[in-house]
Amino acid sequence: GYKFDLNTGANLQRQLASKSAPEVEFTTEGGTPQSHPYVYQKIGDDGPLLLQDTYLTELFGHFDRERIPERVVHAKGAGAHGYFEVTNAEFAKKYTMMDVLSENGLRTPITVRFSTVGGESGSADEARDPRGFAMKFRTRKGIWDLVMNNTPVFFLRDATKFPHFIHTQKRNPQTHLKDKDITWDYWASNPESLYQVMRLFSDLGTPDGFIHMHGWSGHTYRWIKKDGTWVYVRIYAESMQGVKNLTNADATRIQGENPDYATQQLYETIESGNYPGWTVYAQVLSPEQAQSFKYNVLDLTKEWGFDDVPKTEIGKFYLTQNPANYFAEIEQAAFSPARMVDGWGPSNDPVLQARLFSYSDTHRYRLGANYMQIPVNCPFSPSANFERDGAMAVNGNQGSRPNYLSTLSPIKLVKRPYVDETHQQWTGGAVSALSRVTEVDFDWPRRFWASLSAGDKANFISNVVGHLGAVKTLEIRTRMVALFAHVDAELGAAIGKGVKAPVTKVAFPTDKPTWDNTTTWVTTSTLEY
Ligand code: HEM
Repeated sequence: GYKFDLNTGANLQRQLASKSAPEVEFTTEGGTPQSHPYVYQKIGDDGPLLLQDTYLTELFGHFDRERIPERVVHAKGAGAHGYFEVTNAEFAKKYTMMDVLSENGLRTPITVRFSTVGGESGSADEARDPRGFAMKFRTRKGIWDLVMNNTPVFFLRDATKFPHFIHTQKRNPQTHLKDKDITWDYWASNPESLYQVMRLFSDLGTPDGFIHMHGWSGHTYRWIKKDGTWVYVRIYAESMQGVKNLTNADATRIQGENPDYATQQLYETIESGNYPGWTVYAQVLSPEQAQSFKYNVLDLTKEWGFDDVPKTEIGKFYLTQNPANYFAEIEQAAFSPARMVDGWGPSNDPVLQARLFSYSDTHRYRLGANYMQIPVNCPFSPSANFERDGAMAVNGNQGSRPNYLSTLSPIKLVKRPYVDETHQQWTGGAVSALSRVTEVDFDWPRRFWASLSAGDKANFISNVVGHLGAVKTLEIRTRMVALFAHVDAELGAAIGKGVKAPVTKVAFPTDKPTWDNTTTWVTTSTLEY
């Protein structure tokens, strides 16, 4: 007859989390009151400490475990909560069955985390670096994460290059210093990086905080309808605060004066009630349009210019709520491109495909197998399955329900919107051709260069010269100057002069891929959705 609710304690602790210090009593983890936080047990005035002082051992036992692994990339960041509101369901519904986009005025609770990429969790916010722009939508039909950057493209289009590239952005294995030679060695030998490198070394590389930048999905995804038909889609979030960048001189000064500049700006802007907002747009290409599009739609180094593919507004979002506890709500947040909802799917972009694995994998390492039970990650819609046990199974572990597919107590199966054998059929090797650098890879660097004002061009040259000029190896400087000269002769000459390297010529298309690859592959597969 005697029964109690096991969740009583957890619910009580959660309630206490919102109380102020004077409202709560000082206790051990077990809830036993203690006289004073500084009191410990020792023999006499000068004697040794006692092992029986379980308060002291608990204090250190917990302190010793305070740090969890930082994110392997994007370690320094700031975040907040808010909502996304649909403004153009008519448009979205033409292409996708995503519930979160289906009704004008529908608001979905979101958490957003902005970050720099290469630095450690204590590094300066105003480093020259891309910025992460990760969004978590708690939709009525499951979690949807949109893990974006503040740039429309990326440095690479072959997933296997990512760890190499990141190593060249982090520290030299011997000196433990940031190393400009290895940074530029990578870029000079992987010319498909050039457009992203040029954006990075313009003043776009040092945005004035997180609220003055746009976000791009970068990758091409797919919008899918109930009948199984789909289109390619890219998402773009435009800052309502406008784009503001810092000059290299200001960014450098701020890094010293206030390494947490962007974190502080975000927190204080929200605290003051000036909720920062972004307008969200979609760009759509049908599979047929993609066939004849000027760039390979699976190529992450190519932007879809708004002249090439028009953008249409689908919604807006605002950040209205600072975290009450940074660690609980931002550090423990786990964003992953693999968190998808009906109507949203990956394209065959090989970098995206690799990311689908990498994020959940790192979350299991960084936060543990049950990371989805952490409140910030937990869906606001029901989730039920056969994933059980593991460290920190704190949400009831799915109770007494069978932990296997049972005939005695069968789980409900929802009929999928479609099972369509022809939904995705892939043949052929378009993807393998991506790695080869050809003339088309200079298209965006040239478009970007032509779009800059005289002042922005001057800043760009000075930013590159300041950085590349410190590379010790002449051969690396020379290779890089040749790439800039291939974009624009005057640009190459200015940088060559600045970094004291001759201007030489490169020819594209190169006769072989940038990496030594003799494998080509053809896949034919049918995916059931
Ligand atoms: C963070 C892997 C490319 C955006 C991360 C993390 C990993 C990772 C392991 C740490 C996640 C965590 O600890 O929670 C990769 C791999 C890539 C790749 C393997 C390519 C093969 C990209 C691209 C974008 C991007 C192309 C943007 C379009 C982000 C963002 C974060 C992140 C925004 C920070 C998420 C947060 O705030 O928690 N990435 N990444 N990544 N990545 Fe990537």
